[in-house]
Amino acid sequence: MQDKINKILEYIENFTPKTFEDLESFRISLVGKKGELTKLFEDFRNLNSEEKKYYGKLLNNLKNRVNEKIDNLTTAYKPKIKEDHRIDLALQEPNLTYGSLHPITIVKNEIFSIFKKLGFSIYEGQEIEDDWHVFSALNFPPEHPARDMQDTFFIQKNPDVLLRTHTSSVQVRSMENEDLPIRVICPGRVFRNESISSRAHCIFHQVEGLYIDKTVSFSDLKQTLAFFVKEMFGSKTKIRLRPSYFPFTEPSAELDISCNLCGGKGCSVCKHTGWLEILGCGMVDPNVLELNKIDSKKYSGFAFGMGIERIAMLKFSVNDLRNYFENDIRFLNQFTNFY
Ligand code: PHE
Repeated sequence: MQDKINKILEYIENFTPKTFEDLESFRISLVGKKGELTKLFEDFRNLNSEEKKYYGKLLNNLKNRVNEKIDNLTTAYKPKIKEDHRIDLALQEPNLTYGSLHPITIVKNEIFSIFKKLGFSIYEGQEIEDDWHVFSALNFPPEHPARDMQDTFFIQKNPDVLLRTHTSSVQVRSMENEDLPIRVICPGRVFRNESISSRAHCIFHQVEGLYIDKTVSFSDLKQTLAFFVKEMFGSKTKIRLRPSYFPFTEPSAELDISCNLCGGKGCSVCKHTGWLEILGCGMVDPNVLELNKIDSKKYSGFAFGMGIERIAMLKFSVNDLRNYFENDIRFLNQFTNFY
């Protein structure tokens, strides 16, 4: 018995745990059900009274020594583990910077939500297109300058593989694939062979709209655009339609809004006219309906198209279109309040 007591004493004196788990197995090896100390107490029961007197003291001392060691080690190790999970309320906030949606995405989403209220759905198409979808099905005559290399990016000098110059090509695809009536808006990137300046870029974004049904009239177009403008730029904004020309609409018009900077009085942004041009529109030319296998005697439609950069420039008073492409963090950071 004495030997065993000495062994245990030696064992506990020399023990230093590396982890809390070590300490736990140490505890079990001594005071667990089959632990060394537990066994000693079992042996103690078989001793005679003389021996009991002697070893009783020793065993109690040993037991106290073991418990003390375990207690000390537990306070030394347990708080450490706990602390790792504790929240330090005084800790300084790390310097987190929040991202933001790109202003083009913000405006695009707003355009979507306005037209969704009018029952338009989103229709998307491909960026690499063919002549039919970008030009021919839209009534562009063969000699139209847009078909020129100067205006359109062709791929591998193949006149039938090109980057779309407008998302009207997606409208053609909707007429090809969807049943009537059609009421879609077509967002996407478009490409034009133009030199880059504060007002033009060779890549930009459009949202075009198309509505075809049995009794669509010019006043439907005007009302739709008036609703859009008031939702987008505020209820005081006025609109003006000017006659224009597009191969795929007849009649065609350009839509101006009253300058939201000077309120229509005239300033440098509106070039002292009080008006800002924001989009092209018109009634779908019956030729386009027929080219797309729609009976122009039964159906009519309107279409419109706008550049998202242009709308975003007016909405956020940005005077250089190149800002939208450079991803300068100082520019983008200004849009963190939008979602
Ligand atoms: N597709 C024309 C453009 O890219 C815009 C437009 C669309 C005009 C529909 C009229 C009708 O400029």
